[in-house]
Parts: sequence; C-alpha cells; structure tokens
Amino acid sequence: MKVTIQKLCQWKQEKKPIVCLTAWDYAIASLLDQGDIDLILVGDSLAMVALGHDNTLPITLEEMIHHTQAVCRGVKRSFVVCDLPFLTYQTSISQAIESAGKIIKETNADAVKLEGGYPAMVETVSRLTEIGIPVMGHVGLTPQSVRVLGYKQQGKSAIAQETIFNQAMALEKAGAFAIVLEHITADLAQKITDSLSIPTIGIGAGKDCDGQVLVTADLLGLSSKVPPFAKVYTNLKTIISQSVTEYANDVRSHQFP
Ligand code: KIV
Repeated sequence: MKVTIQKLCQWKQEKKPIVCLTAWDYAIASLLDQGDIDLILVGDSLAMVALGHDNTLPITLEEMIHHTQAVCRGVKRSFVVCDLPFLTYQTSISQAIESAGKIIKETNADAVKLEGGYPAMVETVSRLTEIGIPVMGHVGLTPQSVRVLGYKQQGKSAIAQETIFNQAMALEKAGAFAIVLEHITADLAQKITDSLSIPTIGIGAGKDCDGQVLVTADLLGLSSKVPPFAKVYTNLKTIISQSVTEYANDVRSHQFP
C-alpha cells in the first residue's frame, strides 16, 4: 500500500522508524521501492552524485523534474519527495508556487522539499500548503547555503540551537508535513523531535529522530566524498571497476563473447 503523509505521522506516534533514502533514476528507485524504503527523496544531491557538480547549486528545475519523472516510474509504494533547487523558490512566493506546481504537475512526486526556516520561507511553506502542495522542510546544515555555512555541523552555540529549534516549530505551524534535520547535535535533534507532532528525518542528527535518510550513493560506496556521519554499506565502486576490467580483459583476450 502506498505510503501517505497520514501514515508517516502515524509511524511517528507509534515510534516506528521511517526509512528514507535518495534516488536519482529509475533503476535505483525500483530497488529502493522493492526494498520497502518508506520515503524516497529525489534530493538535489543528485547534482553531485549523478551529474558530477561540486555542490548542489547548479542543478536546474528542469533537471530535477527529468530525474523525478524517472524515479517515479520505478515507484509503487514509497512516498516520493522532490527537492526544489537553489533559486527556484527563494525569490518570491509566486516563484515558489510556479516551481513547486511544475514539479507536482509534471512528475508523480507526492511532495516537494525546500531548505531554510527563516520567516520568508515559513510564509512560502504556508502558501504552498494552502494551495495543496505538501512541503517537507529542511533545517540545520542546508547545503544550498554552503557558501555561507560550509559543510560544518550546525547548532553548536545556544543561540544557534534556539534559532534552529524556532525554525522547526515555525515550519510545523506553517503546514510542513515533515522536516529534515541535517548535521545538528543529537541533543538538539531530540528536543525538536519531542516538540513536534510531524516527523523529523535525520541525517547526521543522532538516533532520536523519527526517521533517517542517507544519500544512496554514500551508502553504496559510489561517492567520491562521504560525510563523516554517513555509513558506507558496500563498495560498488570497486565491484564495478573489477567487472569493467574483467570485461575489457575478456574482449582483448578473445574470451568474450
Ligand atoms: O539532497 C539531498 O540528498 C538531501 C539529503 C541530504 C537530505 O537533501
């Protein structure tokens, strides 16, 4: 049965961990869906892991839509969320409506995700939700602000903790159905999780979030740079390299076909 927002909130109440991973194409998405992953995020990290950019800033709305369409073709059960790319929602509420609306109209995604919890963004979440577009928030380390924040853990000082906590509360009040907490202290993530009625999905935010997400390329050992909080479960890079070398040797030595 298809995962819904109601199910995600029910699982928070039942303390049943929500399992999330990122996907960028049909093949990966089909495997995640068949593997019972509850929520698939078409994260703008695909700019780095699938398109070879240095950060998430260059990816366009059209590229995100192209990848999300492919992901959705592989999904029957999982809840699919598509990231709004940098500068496709920050300029104005009408820009956010145009961009999020295009994603919802042209893909089968169930929701969009946007970064930030400052007042203008909270208003945007409220307006998108009002017109029927479910929004997932994202606070803490927000990679679209890499030029300001770097990739460092956020929320270390008392003031920074209070800011992130207030952002999460404001996003829930604005109508967000879930919030990604990235690279913040476990204590802060627990405090936010306990104070919200919507689920928190952690990445580098300790074990007390309602769910966990990883960039699938990190989990599979395909990324060139893995963040310190990620866990690498297998090394596909080595497996692929070995297979490619074996094939090349077979062709050159007339062993294949
Ligand atoms: O783009 C992405 O993959 C993300 C996750 C790191 C949460 O936003």
